[in-house]
Amino acid sequence: MKPVRVVTLWWMLLLGAARKGAAQESTFYYGTFPAGFSWGVGSSAYQTEGAWDQDGKGPSIWDAFTHSGTGKVLGDDTADVACDSYYKVQEDVMLLRELNVSHYRFSLSWPRLLPTGIRAEQVNEKGIRFYSELIDALLRSDITPIVTLHHWDLPQLLQVKYGGWQNASMATYFRDYADLCFAVFGDRVKHWITFSDPRAMVEKGYETGLHAPGLRLPGTGLYKAAHHIIKAHAHVWHSYNDTWRGRQRGLVGISLNCDWGEPVDVSDPKDVEAAERYLQFCLGWFANPIYAGDYPQVMKDRIGRKSVEQGLEASSCRRSHCRDTSVPVPTGSQQLRARCVPPFQTQYGDPPIYVTENGAPQRVPCSQLCDEWRIHYLKGYINEMLKAVKDGANIRGYTAWSLLDKFEWDKGYSDRYGLYYVRFIDRNRPRHPKASMRYYKKIIAANGFPSPREVDRWHREALDMCSIDNQMLAAEPLLSHMQLVTEIVVPTVCALCVLIAAVLLLLLLSRRS
Ligand SMILES: *[C@@H]1O[C@H](CO)[C@@H](O)[C@H](O)[C@H]1NC(C)=O
Ligand SMILES: *[C@@H]1O[C@H](CO)[C@@H](O)[C@H](O)[C@H]1NC(C)=O
Ligand SMILES: *[C@@H]1O[C@H](CO)[C@@H](O)[C@H](O)[C@H]1NC(C)=O
Repeated sequence: MKPVRVVTLWWMLLLGAARKGAAQESTFYYGTFPAGFSWGVGSSAYQTEGAWDQDGKGPSIWDAFTHSGTGKVLGDDTADVACDSYYKVQEDVMLLRELNVSHYRFSLSWPRLLPTGIRAEQVNEKGIRFYSELIDALLRSDITPIVTLHHWDLPQLLQVKYGGWQNASMATYFRDYADLCFAVFGDRVKHWITFSDPRAMVEKGYETGLHAPGLRLPGTGLYKAAHHIIKAHAHVWHSYNDTWRGRQRGLVGISLNCDWGEPVDVSDPKDVEAAERYLQFCLGWFANPIYAGDYPQVMKDRIGRKSVEQGLEASSCRRSHCRDTSVPVPTGSQQLRARCVPPFQTQYGDPPIYVTENGAPQRVPCSQLCDEWRIHYLKGYINEMLKAVKDGANIRGYTAWSLLDKFEWDKGYSDRYGLYYVRFIDRNRPRHPKASMRYYKKIIAANGFPSPREVDRWHREALDMCSIDNQMLAAEPLLSHMQLVTEIVVPTVCALCVLIAAVLLLLLLSRRS
């Protein structure tokens, strides 16, 4: 494993290929990725595991949030069972083997390992065993685990007792938790992600209240939470560097998400500046402190000025009123490569990049397994990533989001991101491959897009297969109905038979006597 400069940044590239029209199809780039490029899929604990109160797991803020009901989540869905992945390790690893991915990104549930959140209080051995078995099963299949320490499911007790990420002491509890994970899994796990999309976590958790813990602390809560998260990341990075890296030789990064912003009019310096400012507020907010040791200048300037306008104290300004609504919304692009690579390479010293999450939800239930539009999405985004690599971006791996349809936070089960369809109404939670899974599998096997003929053939084959799969899926309600017949009706009928036989026997006997 190559040593990394300061911090490896795992970075969700949001390449603007979604709006690719037919006219731009001619710009499709045929070619392959460098040898050893890592292909994967991802998931997170709360969204997939289920078993929310099993084997000693403590509650998380998401358990509390979903159980409080009252329309916080679409359809009042919970992830109490979700994909039931806690009980389906072997089955899920088989799906990964079928795709032949090089890595699997998943997250550890902090309250499954530490029920109260605090290591000094209680460690759940069954939680350690569960993740150990998953890691071992992956390694036996030659799949590299990429492990997220915190994907939004903070232990509920840390929230109710201490205010969660509003409290500076979270950084210490998080470091203790991370140290436990390094101690018990670090011999086998070499790729760590501290936080997944902390920006969404603080904006939705502490500003809008749409996500757990559901707090609305406008203008202050999110900056405070972000500040503690950045510090927690630094603590963990240094702890790994000082204590574990010598023996374990792994990487510790963070997964940051930002939509791309670009000037509405490139010849207008104000637009150019607005786009740059937008990126600093979106990505620089977390990346700058990690790479350069401080918040972006433009953030400090803006917040400073605004805080003066609003009569706030200078000391609190960094964390308040950062929102800038004057920034133009990102628009479609012709020159994606030119925009996408250089700022990152130049501002943050060309770090190795792993795309940790890239995918899109689907709400149309009728197309189910024939998700042709997702094929276009994956094809477009991965192709833009290939162009970026050819332009010199240091991208080492890509993670499609996600392996399975799963609990989608405030959207419940209505947003489906999976390469595999999950039938949530069936208590066995069966998984079915979508067309996009078959297509992605071909990209992985070819390590890119070798030729137009080949790529067209994948498309056709994936869609042929999915119509057959769809018919089977449509027949499934019938099958599960038959299952119902065998499980309930047949025993009932049998019981009736026995009863009738007994009555007949009695009658017979009574006649004889
Ligand atoms: C799976 O991937 C490995 C490593 O890239 C490759 O050597 C192997 O041939 C692939 N297996 C299949 C069945 O495609
Ligand atoms: C922050 O957490 C500590 C425990 O680590 C606690 O003593 C303190 O009261 C908390 N502060 C607030 C404001 O909740
Ligand atoms: C990381 O650890 C190495 C080896 O102990 C040390 O030389 C280096 O200064 C550390 N890096 C940082 C940024 O602390």
